[in-house]
Amino acid sequence: MELHVVILAAGKGSRMKSKLPKVLHCVAGKPMLQHVIDCAQKLNPSKIHVVIGHGSELVKSTINDDSIFWVQQLEQLGTGHAVDQALPNIPASANVLVLYGDVPLIEESTLASLLSETSQSAMAILTVALEDPTGYGRIVRNAADEVTAIVEHKDATDDQLSINEVNTGILAAQAAHLKQWLPALSSDNAQGEYYLTDIVSMAVGQDIDVEAAHPAAVEEVQGVNDRLQLCELECYVQSQTAEQLMLNGVSLYDPHRIDVRGEIKTGSDIIIDINSVFVGKVEIEDDVVIGPNCYIKNAKICQGSVIQANTVIEDAIVGANSIVGPFARLRPGTVLAGDNKVGNFVETKKAIVGQGSKINHLSYVGDAELGANVNVGAGTITCNYDGVNKSKTTLGDDVFVGSNTSLVAPVVISNGATIGAGSVISGDVKEAQLAVARAKQRNIDGWNRPVKK
Ligand code: UD1
Ligand code: CA
Repeated sequence: MELHVVILAAGKGSRMKSKLPKVLHCVAGKPMLQHVIDCAQKLNPSKIHVVIGHGSELVKSTINDDSIFWVQQLEQLGTGHAVDQALPNIPASANVLVLYGDVPLIEESTLASLLSETSQSAMAILTVALEDPTGYGRIVRNAADEVTAIVEHKDATDDQLSINEVNTGILAAQAAHLKQWLPALSSDNAQGEYYLTDIVSMAVGQDIDVEAAHPAAVEEVQGVNDRLQLCELECYVQSQTAEQLMLNGVSLYDPHRIDVRGEIKTGSDIIIDINSVFVGKVEIEDDVVIGPNCYIKNAKICQGSVIQANTVIEDAIVGANSIVGPFARLRPGTVLAGDNKVGNFVETKKAIVGQGSKINHLSYVGDAELGANVNVGAGTITCNYDGVNKSKTTLGDDVFVGSNTSLVAPVVISNGATIGAGSVISGDVKEAQLAVARAKQRNIDGWNRPVKK
């Protein structure tokens, strides 16, 4: 049967105390709503409808996905009213799955088991038993243990409040049924809202079975209302990721001190020291060692490389068996071919660095192409910017650049050339030449130093 997913995301999330709509707050570097959309996509639905209200323009532009059907809910009159807004775009023959933009960790497998409970004559709700059910809707069952109703906390009797099986909010039902039930909801309850949960007793009244499915882990159905709950889920995801990394052959000195905000792909025999942050798409090959306090974003670290403490790498590739850091910064467009050394206080940007080349200390290498086995001396700077345009510096194979050199781009230093220390090089240097461009040293005999008057 055709599946339509409706994700509720219209609420303001006042308790976040934030300018940002709640569903755009991130867990593991990704907006909560995006987590839910990504999970829903795995079910191959015909359509995903997202009900938005507060901050709707920002929500749409952040998610920026043309395949989503956005539905405006102008006033937040309740979860039942919210789902009803999406119904006109859903064919009566469809099965409808309701998800929440602020319940980000729901898993495909749980939803698949929920959906397997639905049929023409059965709807399904996802429930969970909580030690402290405060605030949640309670699942009311009859003597035969069949679900008969969901009662919201604020509407519950004392007896009902002692029930600890709660409604996660996630449910699935036939569109044909919803089209009949939702317009019939009443807001005559403690919160004056149109409760989606009231469809359960409507179903029971029409001999439609209400089946209950359960999540594999309670975190899957935890909603986020404030930053404490956001942080709880963040910590949970981080601990899950750390566990997975270790099971996949990565040694972590401390699984509580690693953050992965995106996708990390790892080989085996990798060692990761404490406090590193991995952002976006990161790939780490076998035998890589990552020192403490590194920030690595959208990067590939090839086999056997060592990233030493306090290194920042962004949109860059570190070729095999290289040593980078401590305190190095590889900016976007840096590609190290392999067997390279990039040492402390070196900044690179759009730098293609050939096999075996070294930039060991205190340098800026930007908009540059270096051949193989180049040695860039301490304090070398590519002067790539004249205030208006960026220009390129090209160093051939086996070039030796003496310390404290300024390479004024555009400039080409050909294979095997040598640059004397302290030079300002603004003209090309041919193969195997030595270029020295600095004031000649004068020694003055018997120099009398000035004295204080
Ligand atoms: C809801 C359920 C409750 C369940 C709980 C689980 C109802 C009536 N109650 O309660 O049984 O235990 O979730 O967390 O469904 N939303 C809209 N438009 C609206 C109202 C809500 O988009 O008009 C969105 C909110 O942004 C939020 C979600 O729906 O993401 C849930 O709404 P909320 O008001 O928080 O429901 P709860 O009171 O938590
Ligand atoms: Ca809620």
